[in-house]
Amino acid sequence: MADQVTLPAEADTVSFGESLGRQLRAGDLVLLAGPLGAGKTVLTRGIAAGLGVSGRVSSPTFVLARVHPAGARGVPLVHVDAYRLGGDLAQLDDLDLDTDLEASAVVVEWGEGSAERLSSDYLVVRLERRDDDVRVATLEPHGSWKERV
Ligand SMILES: Nc1ncnc2c1ncn2[C@@H]1O[C@H](COP(=O)(O)OP(=O)(O)OP(=O)(O)O)[C@@H](O)[C@H]1O
Ligand SMILES: [Mg+2]
Repeated sequence: MADQVTLPAEADTVSFGESLGRQLRAGDLVLLAGPLGAGKTVLTRGIAAGLGVSGRVSSPTFVLARVHPAGARGVPLVHVDAYRLGGDLAQLDDLDLDTDLEASAVVVEWGEGSAERLSSDYLVVRLERRDDDVRVATLEPHGSWKERV
């Protein structure tokens, strides 16, 4: 996967998420960075499709975290909004999520700056919104992710 991907339309962001989602394994941590409306939730919809999990992806703002049950790949998706968790992802463990984080792929919106504490191996996907509304995604791999993307 290239370090930087240009995403002219929403559908492109979804397809990019799908290709990322197909690569995700149990225990993976992906942090989505970028301002309000950058496309973090849209990207997560693609990731969910690539992982083959069930349940509609929507903004987790009012639920803190949502578990999408595993499909054929056997890996559930945990979709988190760290903004509402007040940046304290230690709380994730206290949410009584009906899944084992080690057995799931975890995608965290606004997770940069706190989710790193969950693991030293993580991928940051930074979404920028250009003036012409095109999104540009930049991949920033950390730890073992450096050998993967
Ligand atoms: N190329 C694009 N990629 C993604 N979204 C796009 C694109 N072009 C336009 N959009 C629109 O931008 C919005 C992105 O919203 P989204 O909820 O994914 O942002 P977000 O980063 O999750 O915001 P928040 O920080 O509020 O959670 C959607 O309304 C989508 O239709
Ligand atoms: Mg969002």
